[in-house]
Amino acid sequence: MMKDLLEISGITKSFGGLLAVNNCSFSIKKGKITGLIGPNGAGKTTMFNIICGLLKSDIGNIYLNDEDITDLNPDKRAHLGIGRSYQKIRLFPELTALENIVIAFHENKEGLIDAFLPYKRHQKNLEKKAMNMLESVNLQEKANFRAYELSYGQKKLVEILRTKANDPSLILLDEPTAGINETTIKQIKSIILEFQKEGRTVFIVEHNMPFIMNLCETIIVMDQGQKLAEGKPEAIQRDKKVLEAYLGKKHA
Ligand SMILES: Nc1ncnc2c1ncn2[C@@H]1O[C@H](COP(=O)(O)OP(=O)(O)OP(=O)(O)O)[C@@H](O)[C@H]1O
Ligand SMILES: [Mg+2]
Repeated sequence: MMKDLLEISGITKSFGGLLAVNNCSFSIKKGKITGLIGPNGAGKTTMFNIICGLLKSDIGNIYLNDEDITDLNPDKRAHLGIGRSYQKIRLFPELTALENIVIAFHENKEGLIDAFLPYKRHQKNLEKKAMNMLESVNLQEKANFRAYELSYGQKKLVEILRTKANDPSLILLDEPTAGINETTIKQIKSIILEFQKEGRTVFIVEHNMPFIMNLCETIIVMDQGQKLAEGKPEAIQRDKKVLEAYLGKKHA
């Protein structure tokens, strides 16, 4: 049986009177691409924030590789192998595309491993790696553009590439294709498949159904803070509860 990399156990989180995540449990298989879908406000981003440690849950536990990480801060979790991208892009606008990736290396263990090298050589190595990453999505010519000068799709590509910098075993992507054209979506798909080839586990929140249904082996559905369903894409697309949850929101 395939081992679970991440286990979410009875997670609850409220903001004041609002129950954003309500006793939610599920697990994510190692090496797989898993999708998390659900109507707006279902609690998906909140769940990602709890997994990476940006938010503390009120109740429940999170295990990474059987280790209880519930009380660890985001830095510790990043060192243990959790990387993520944000629904709202978080780049340093005044830094170049290349620098935005290099700085992500510095924030993590890869920066430490090479730290014994003379600083300049170390820096050159990281720049080379970052440049290779930009080349992989045809952005080499934008390497020295400041982040604010990039198009939205280009920013999004850089944001997604940055998640790889700390050599994560688990990558969380929050709406990687939102607001992106078809060509860039194809590039994002190939980045994600590359993550998987490198042995990483990928967990994706998406509203783009064709994209997520095509890419994921398993889909988890949240609605009003709770897990509503879990299964293969074909089954989820036919699940009455799931259809109702989406329709209910549309007519609300
Ligand atoms: N920091 C916060 N303070 C107060 N309420 C919050 C906060 N973050 C999220 N919420 C509320 O919690 C609920 C879940 O929000 P969340 O962002 O997790 O939903 P989501 O599933 O990611 O939605 P979307 O698909 O629109 O991104 C929403 O009702 C939201 O308004
Ligand atoms: Mg969200």
